[in-house]
Amino acid sequence: MMNDWAGLPATYGDVLRRAMESLFRTFENFSEGTFIVDAEARVVWINKRYAARFGFSDPQQAIGRDCEAVIPNSLMREVVHTGKPILLDIMETDREPLVVTRLPLKDDAGVTVGAVGFALFDELKALTPLFSHYSRVQEELIATRRSLAQARRARYTFGSFVGTSAACLEVKRQARRAAQLESPVLLLGETGTGKELLAHAIHGGSARATQPLVTVNVAAIPDTLLEVEFFGAAPGAYTGADRKGRVGKFELANGGTLFLDEIGDMPLPLQGKLLRVLQDKEFEPLGSNRIVRADVRIIAATSADLPALVAAGRFRADLFYRLNVLTIHAPALRERTSDIEALAYAMLEDLSTQTRSGSHFELQDDALRLLCSYGWPGNVRELRNTLERAVMLSDSERIDARTLAPFLGSAQGGSQRSAVAGATPPVGGQTRTLQAPDVTADAPLESASWSDAMAAFEKRFLCDALRANGGRVIDTANRIGMGRATLYKKIAAYGIEV
Ligand SMILES: Nc1ncnc2c1ncn2[C@@H]1O[C@H](COP(=O)(O)OP(=O)(O)O)[C@@H](O)[C@H]1O
Ligand SMILES: [Mg+2]
Repeated sequence: MMNDWAGLPATYGDVLRRAMESLFRTFENFSEGTFIVDAEARVVWINKRYAARFGFSDPQQAIGRDCEAVIPNSLMREVVHTGKPILLDIMETDREPLVVTRLPLKDDAGVTVGAVGFALFDELKALTPLFSHYSRVQEELIATRRSLAQARRARYTFGSFVGTSAACLEVKRQARRAAQLESPVLLLGETGTGKELLAHAIHGGSARATQPLVTVNVAAIPDTLLEVEFFGAAPGAYTGADRKGRVGKFELANGGTLFLDEIGDMPLPLQGKLLRVLQDKEFEPLGSNRIVRADVRIIAATSADLPALVAAGRFRADLFYRLNVLTIHAPALRERTSDIEALAYAMLEDLSTQTRSGSHFELQDDALRLLCSYGWPGNVRELRNTLERAVMLSDSERIDARTLAPFLGSAQGGSQRSAVAGATPPVGGQTRTLQAPDVTADAPLESASWSDAMAAFEKRFLCDALRANGGRVIDTANRIGMGRATLYKKIAAYGIEV
């Protein structure tokens, strides 16, 4: 074999011609199946063995049919549409998966006139290491999806919403009705009134109950990350720490419900994008040109005065009208004091199984009167926190007003203040203002135990740190040198609103 560098090697044209001619034959010989379609993705040719694998004893029977009618998971249509090859892929079949290659066929003008596909291996032995990796990853994915779906299933049902006051029954009636419908739900009410609980119950009672319920707490996520959080990002498109790309909450919630908590905190530009998704029912993840269909039911909640935000130009009127279809007002606890006893007992039962199983807590009459006279700015959440502290620190199972009084107003947790309508009766000879103290004010230390004082200090410190970092948990954790998981736990334990 000699090179004639003055011109082309003598054998060049021959090699090229042979390569082109034999390429098809070589592939055909070595592949387990060969498949050719026209520009409409109809079968032009299929070899006998491949046809037989898909149930056609005579390959002629497959000719002229749509490719998917012959090979259910075929992607040949995509190849003729895009004109781009899919060089290596694993195609699932009703038996073992196949390793396949798909190439477009072009005419002299470069127009795609069809495509050819080869199934390279049907026994994946040749690819055992690769394939066992693939199978393992696939299995892990299925297991993870299953446990995620489990975790996303509604935690609460309508039965968990305790209360028989007229206001409470009306809320439950409206929520049950909302569960039967598909329109967006808007849950309004002060913090701790049970909006999240209702969102879970509505999802759990809806036709989407077996599909995911995905929550985004708008207030807890920095503005700059919200868009990716909602819509996801293609690999490499996202300049944040993970360059692998991200699946957005909208896509995760597909088929199910997306619960947007504290929607009043949503930045205006994102409000516009959300509105568009609600109208178009589709969106593009950041940096991708992939259109994702979003079949998602929205439940939004806020403790903010949404009409006032609209009037102030901080919330888009069009988005407000879009969400304000089925609107449910969760009443403040002080407006339904007749529910306090039932709520308190439901919580005490819960707490006794959690903390001291076997105990049987009982509220004395004066304790109950005290609970009913307090204003509960933090609503049911505050009631729960108060009882939790009283139970943890009380020696007796009989809880009287004297035991309870020190904890009232100290367990609210939260930076959002709402009007306190509580009376301020003197209790057990002590004169206390039953108004929740501002977390930045000094806690009343004169009668506190060391552990109470430390807890009060820690809570105040964390609230200040969170506020100083704009409510961003991860930033705060970094700044104060605390693990973010620890900080999340403490935020939950103290009931701090972020
Ligand atoms: N009606 C209710 N019955 C029982 N528990 C309730 C009720 N309302 C609220 N809770 C409890 O109070 C806490 C705060 O409720 P949540 O739904 O998070 O309030 P919100 O979202 O309005 O701030 C949760 O622990 C929740 O289970
Ligand atoms: Mg909430």
